[in-house]
Amino acid sequence: MKCPAGLRVLLLPVCVSLALLGLRLQQGAREPLAASPAFSWREVPGGNGTAGPAAPRHPLQPPYPYPYRFLLNEPHKCRDRAPFLVLLVVTEPRDTAGRHAVRHTWGNESAVGGVAVLRLFLTGVHPVFGAPLQRVLEEESALHHDILQQDFLDTYNNLTLKTLMGLEWVSKHCPDASYVVKADHDVFLNLDYLVRRLLQPQLPPKRDFMTGYVYRNTGPLRNKAYKWYVPPEVYPNETYPPYCGGPAYVLSGDLARRVYGAAQALPLINMEDSFVGICLHALGVRVTSSPRGLFNMYKIAYDKCRFSRLVMVHHYGPRELLQLWNRLRCPQHPSRYCPFCSA
Ligand SMILES: *[C@@H]1O[C@H](CO)[C@@H](O)[C@H](O)[C@H]1NC(C)=O
Ligand SMILES: *[C@@H]1O[C@H](CO)[C@@H](O)[C@H](O)[C@H]1NC(C)=O
Ligand SMILES: *[C@@H]1O[C@H](CO)[C@@H](O)[C@H](O)[C@H]1NC(C)=O
Ligand SMILES: *[C@@H]1O[C@H](CO)[C@@H](O)[C@H](O)[C@H]1NC(C)=O
Repeated sequence: MKCPAGLRVLLLPVCVSLALLGLRLQQGAREPLAASPAFSWREVPGGNGTAGPAAPRHPLQPPYPYPYRFLLNEPHKCRDRAPFLVLLVVTEPRDTAGRHAVRHTWGNESAVGGVAVLRLFLTGVHPVFGAPLQRVLEEESALHHDILQQDFLDTYNNLTLKTLMGLEWVSKHCPDASYVVKADHDVFLNLDYLVRRLLQPQLPPKRDFMTGYVYRNTGPLRNKAYKWYVPPEVYPNETYPPYCGGPAYVLSGDLARRVYGAAQALPLINMEDSFVGICLHALGVRVTSSPRGLFNMYKIAYDKCRFSRLVMVHHYGPRELLQLWNRLRCPQHPSRYCPFCSA
């Protein structure tokens, strides 16, 4: 008997808890961060000549370039017309609730008047419960046609592969999109304001353009205790080129394709946002600072007027996001501080 989709969704949290437990056990069982002599040896990209002699690959360095296969794809979405904006949303296979919230809030393709938006979720394969979650994902994909998945393990240190999968999709299946936004599932995003204030669809699309919350003069964290640890074997320099923070950033379509191209010849690092900055550095392209307060890396108190005039706030769970969206969109609750706010 076929299990109805609704029931599966209800069972998902159980599955997820088991999966997390499995992961912890797995992680406890070995010393994952130390560069042990056991890790696999691999040639650096272009290893046969240009990039130098064969070098060991640290376990935190995502394997790339590698012919990852699309397990879920939407190759025809841009066949009829190029969208103004492709929205790539980073998600984990198990996060059904997160995708639901995004579809019903800022990821709604009709929520920005006058421009075509195309939403796609990016996911890999769950490291423990890949097979049972796959059936759930396939049903969800058949229903919404908005999931891209490749056959790499969906782990924190493989996030760079997810971003590159999104840029690969744009390069191959939607090369004429004007802009690409990469966002995490746990942000509030005001695409309407982004489009009108920064991207301005009445103008020709910008070229070589990237913006977001710009980090300058930062460098890799060398302490193994951090989730964001980057070993010198993965990235030797002590500083990163300027880059846009991962929760949400914007690229012009042409630059999205160029970053994907550059990534084919650079050693990947496990921080996806810093890595995109490294690609820009290799391309000789500078990031553009955004006006103060548009991209908020830390949560700020809700205020209708303020939220209608910013682009991103990190960090929101699915329930909070749905509540926030209702308050923001509902005309019955005009802001006390900003009665004429055009939300
Ligand atoms: C690498 O170099 C070897 C020997 O020079 C050659 O036989 C091989 O085909 C090369 N492989 C690639 C992928 O270019
Ligand atoms: C998306 O927005 C449109 C227009 O505002 C609305 O009619 C539709 O119900 C929304 N869809 C979802 C899934 O929330
Ligand atoms: C990243 O994905 C690859 C391909 O699935 C896998 O071999 C590797 O172990 C993953 N790396 C991490 C750090 O999870
Ligand atoms: C790393 O450092 C070298 C030597 O100073 C420099 O040439 C290179 O551009 C740096 N790379 C990045 C990505 O900043």
